[in-house]
Amino acid sequence: KPEKPTNNTTKQSSWVSPDWLTSLAQSLSIGKDDSNIPIANAKLEDVSELLGGALFLPLFKWMQEYGPIYRLAAGPRNFVVVSDPAIAKHVLRNYGKYAKGLVAEVSEFLFGSGFAIAEGQLWTVRRRAVVPSLHKTYLSVIVDRVFCKCAERLVEKLKTNALNGSAVNMEENFSQLTLDVIGLALFNYNFDSLTTDSPVIDAVYTALKEAEARSTDLLPYWKINALCKIIPRQIKAEKAVTLIRKTVEELINKCKEIVESEGERIDEEEYVNETDPSILRFLLASREEVSSIQLRDDLLSMLVAGHETTGSVLTWTAYLLSKDPSSLSKAQEEVDRVLQGRSPTYEDIKNLKFLTRCINESLRLYPHPPVLLRRAQVADVLPGNYKVYPGQDIMISVYNIHHSPQVWDRAEVFVPERFDLDGPMPNETNTDFRFIPFSGGPRKCIGDQFALLEAIVALAIFVQHMDFELVPDQNISMTTGATIHTENGLYMKVSQRQTKSAFAASSSSSR
Ligand code: HEM
Repeated sequence: KPEKPTNNTTKQSSWVSPDWLTSLAQSLSIGKDDSNIPIANAKLEDVSELLGGALFLPLFKWMQEYGPIYRLAAGPRNFVVVSDPAIAKHVLRNYGKYAKGLVAEVSEFLFGSGFAIAEGQLWTVRRRAVVPSLHKTYLSVIVDRVFCKCAERLVEKLKTNALNGSAVNMEENFSQLTLDVIGLALFNYNFDSLTTDSPVIDAVYTALKEAEARSTDLLPYWKINALCKIIPRQIKAEKAVTLIRKTVEELINKCKEIVESEGERIDEEEYVNETDPSILRFLLASREEVSSIQLRDDLLSMLVAGHETTGSVLTWTAYLLSKDPSSLSKAQEEVDRVLQGRSPTYEDIKNLKFLTRCINESLRLYPHPPVLLRRAQVADVLPGNYKVYPGQDIMISVYNIHHSPQVWDRAEVFVPERFDLDGPMPNETNTDFRFIPFSGGPRKCIGDQFALLEAIVALAIFVQHMDFELVPDQNISMTTGATIHTENGLYMKVSQRQTKSAFAASSSSSR
């Protein structure tokens, strides 16, 4: 049973804190290291790669050299890198002993007191308030009203590219799709990013990029307020956050007025408002005692956590399928057989078994985020008798666990069938932490069902209507921030499928 959180504040340790000094002392090997943890002898070029690029790739290389746990000194920071399911399970389940640490530091400028980075009592209360909004009836309504509609809009847009033969950056399109989805699902707000540009959309991307950049900045100068006022990147980020917050605040105020004027109150289990099924509406109608600022920050946490992650899953699944024509045909045959040319309903999804396994397997090969961060709050002994001390930063490399030949057969190969087609949805519990794309323990993703449904629906509608192939000779290299993404986009040639795709206009308009 997870222990209770020990601190009840969202405030994170400042950069010059005892935690940080402990970490620095360990980096410089001051004091005796009795942890039993091997020290990785990182080369300078690898460390600079670690701080500026695809973080998880050198971590994988060092796992092969130093084993499933090692210590890495990266500039003034010191991390214990974990690539072992049993140690990951210990750290993730003992939430009271391990806080979010660095993640909270780099994203506080955007999340504020949002529950994705909060700790202690505030986190407990807010997570408990939000989770009930993602109930089964909500998900089934959202499948139809949001997931299908947005994916159909994407297909309509791609048909133009199919006609004029232009190459499409699918990463960008999937990112726009998932932004539209999360805006509608959270606030009933249409970013309409698939077809328009707007300052709010730019602001969301600017803020995400800033969080990403902060996670790899060697010196966190952004902790000094005065510098944030003069450095152009920080001025831009602050403007972006102000605009996003203002937009969300306005949505909250508008929705509050409606809920008040209608005297709306949740009066049944799995409540959904017919005209506005959003999570915001549910939370307001539930009449929890919560400030508008807290509500804003919680919703922003979900916007960020739910947007690029699902977009990246779609990007890499499309990539994997484009490299594996037999899996693509199998997925298309299944979609044609189950859906008979129409869009999926909530009930159809359980029958899209192979397509679902393609998404599971994509999440294994490309987990988002590829690395989970934690900071020890107390001294502890990890499985295998490795000691950690308070303040120790820990990286759980989900990427390493998912790619380790000790954990998976043919770990590097895309094999959707490795997960039994008729078995349960693979998760951390039924794989004993060998498969942890949504993390595990008390801070596990709250949007896992939502994300899987969204990805299945979007991919089903995409492969139902489109054939696609990679534009040849493009360099598809990986980089990372909160998710694994490509460095230069994922360009594809798309063409409209002939088989059973006469769907659309009639069936979708009659839905
Ligand atoms: C947390 C992955 C989609 C909301 C997490 C964590 C992971 C994750 C790994 C845990 C991080 C940690 O342990 O430090 C993913 C992936 C997604 C996805 C791979 C898409 C495929 C979503 C969606 C939502 C969402 C759609 C919202 C509707 C959250 C929230 C947290 C979280 C609020 C923080 C939970 C807490 O700290 O209590 N996600 N997520 N995620 N996710 Fe997701």
